[in-house]
Amino acid sequence: MQLYFSPTSPYVRKVRISAQELGFGEKIELISIALTPINPDDALRSSNPLGKIPTLITDDGDALYDSPVICEYLDALAGGHRLFPAAGPARWRALRRQALADGILDAAVLLRYEQTLRPKELRWQEWVDGQWLKMRTGLDALEREHLEGAFDIGAVSIACALGYLDFRYASEGWRASRPRLTAWAGGISQRPSLRATVPTG
Ligand code: BEZ
Repeated sequence: MQLYFSPTSPYVRKVRISAQELGFGEKIELISIALTPINPDDALRSSNPLGKIPTLITDDGDALYDSPVICEYLDALAGGHRLFPAAGPARWRALRRQALADGILDAAVLLRYEQTLRPKELRWQEWVDGQWLKMRTGLDALEREHLEGAFDIGAVSIACALGYLDFRYASEGWRASRPRLTAWAGGISQRPSLRATVPTG
């Protein structure tokens, strides 16, 4: 398998953590790619018309995207129901947490593009404020969750969202007023799959 990859993409990190947790760490070749929404890559677009990472090329040559689909594919390849609970409340809780964490990430990444790519004269403060509101209310919702328990796709996604905030928005201090989330993040940060994929650069 091949994975289009950037060391700083939190969505790629979700896939890499899932792969390591499922025993596929050594079976995925990383294809490094430097990408922004205004700097697309033609080779990647020939596999994924959206030109986004992560994109996985399976051993059958199929392209899969994006991170929720790739993570569930890897889970199925490993026999199923290890990161994605089979059915019932546990499944919906894990998928909802994945959606919540990915939503926090989407807002954080859009803000990053706003701050680094968009010309200053085109920036729109109300829109920026709206992204911060999503991030803060999302984090407050995570503080109210009972996250202890299985390390499923919800936990993987939350870990990646918090890791990205530490990487790009450390000065915002998401831990302040969120002691339970802080304690949970400290505990899971020791997992080898998380330690091996901390964003750098
Ligand atoms: C980043 O470097 O912040 C980044 C890279 C890829 C996707 C999203 C964010």
